[in-house]
Amino acid sequence: MIILGIWDGHNSSATLVKDGKIVASVSEEKFTKRKMEVNFPINSIKYCLSVLDLKPKEITNIAISTTDWGSTLTRSFSSVKSDFWYERRRHMTDKPITWDLDLQILNQTGKIKSNKLFRKISKIALSKYLSKIGFNIKNTKLHLVDHHKAHAASTYFTSGMNKATCITMDALGDGYSSTINICEDNEIKTISRNPTKDSLGLFFQEVTSLAGMRILEDEGKIMALSDYANVEEDFKNPMDKFFTVSGLKIKSNYPLYKRYQLIKNLHWRNKPENYAFMAQSALEKFTTKLFENSIKETGIKDVVWAGGIASNIKMNMKIKNINDVNKYHVYPDMGDSGLSAGAALFISNKLFGTKTYKLKDVYLGPKFDDDEILKTLKKFKKKISYEERTDSSKYAGELISNNNIVFWFQDRIETGQRALGNRSILANATNPKIKEELNLKIKKRSWYQPFCPTILKEDANKFVHEKELDRFMTMGYYLKDESIEKAKSVMNIDKSIRPQFLNDENPKYEKLLKQIKKETGNGIVLNTSFNIHGSPIVLSPEDAIKTQLHTKNKNMFIGNYHIKIK
Ligand SMILES: [Fe+2]
Repeated sequence: MIILGIWDGHNSSATLVKDGKIVASVSEEKFTKRKMEVNFPINSIKYCLSVLDLKPKEITNIAISTTDWGSTLTRSFSSVKSDFWYERRRHMTDKPITWDLDLQILNQTGKIKSNKLFRKISKIALSKYLSKIGFNIKNTKLHLVDHHKAHAASTYFTSGMNKATCITMDALGDGYSSTINICEDNEIKTISRNPTKDSLGLFFQEVTSLAGMRILEDEGKIMALSDYANVEEDFKNPMDKFFTVSGLKIKSNYPLYKRYQLIKNLHWRNKPENYAFMAQSALEKFTTKLFENSIKETGIKDVVWAGGIASNIKMNMKIKNINDVNKYHVYPDMGDSGLSAGAALFISNKLFGTKTYKLKDVYLGPKFDDDEILKTLKKFKKKISYEERTDSSKYAGELISNNNIVFWFQDRIETGQRALGNRSILANATNPKIKEELNLKIKKRSWYQPFCPTILKEDANKFVHEKELDRFMTMGYYLKDESIEKAKSVMNIDKSIRPQFLNDENPKYEKLLKQIKKETGNGIVLNTSFNIHGSPIVLSPEDAIKTQLHTKNKNMFIGNYHIKIK
């Protein structure tokens, strides 16, 4: 019961599902080092097959998502993909960009839904890619999965819930921007869809783009900046009039171009943080209303959601705090890179009747054995010194408690955008100075971007009121007043945190946190992804060493090796 899932759009990825469970999942950017890689995920596919020692010819079922106009075109002409998606949309071009025009093209073409012809053309283009890397297309069935069905499947089939209200929200895919579904007994029934013209995701992209930031990457900066707004109590948000949510429908109150001009005007007239606040609070208002209405309609208070907008943790926190929400789950790879997992899980259920399961962890990518690590260390021996330490968790915990920043590289890389203890940069969560050092010297991020903590599950009630604890850093929580001093470097200005609550799913990392608890009294650590801002998370020991040399950070652990710069 094996399905290979592929996503070949921006942030392309591959996932292998066996017996209804994800056994491998990785995005292509980790291999190519091009953030949001758009090219066909050849390396990711090869890795996924290697996990079960499979040859391409042994794969008989492949699930691929999205066959709208844009995906079909870019699949068929890879230069369009590279030039338009990668170079232009990520501001990589050396020519000035007319964003108005680009967004207009996207907004107009995004309306064109999937149809028989697009699916046929997509299958021909995909067969060509797959044949080139050794798949036997005659013996392989290509299953095309709707964009939002794949988002829905990614979160429902990893939630472990039998019955849930499921909502997908993003910019666009297969002609739609959001769907509301009832999931029950391993079936996903879509009860409402909202078209691209009514897309909250596109609205947030427009806001991001007009702020001079990169769409599909920097939306989180708008969210972070919004915390610093200075608005009056009776502030009337002009962006509140952009959409109306009634029942299960979202409706844009302006044509796309008119709204774009209105946002442009608001950006010009307001301070950046107030502009960000308008967008963030409008997004929260529309989505919480949609969730409230959906729960009312379905009568199901357990909620699962996914899609690019679900990476907005402040919004997720507002949704979690709706009175009617009981249990919730957000698939940790909630954006389009998670479509390979969703498509594979969806087809696995259709073909083999596999069921929803509770995702245990996100350690689903490549790992490197001791021989490979040692070989790389020797390669860099002129620049680094290293020693093997069997007590690496304990020693790293001591270093962190003494205000050292530690690069921590272990076992399999996480799927998705968050590092959860295997490719992490770790630091003291109580020291506010560390935040600046990390932001300015090491990560090179904007000053207003907050850091997140990992907290031992056994210490959770010291920090937050909730009993439902998120393990994947997809959710925000307000800190208890008495714990503010213990979380100074991982707290947002509104006293919220975005934690990973850690139980026993990562014993080595758990041991490190227990050492910190022994030293400081609290099982909390600042945990940020092991990369320089704007680059993908490091994949290999070589990537890790290069990042250490580049940032000049003193302490790094790869497996049991403690590494210092000479
Ligand atoms: Fe999407």
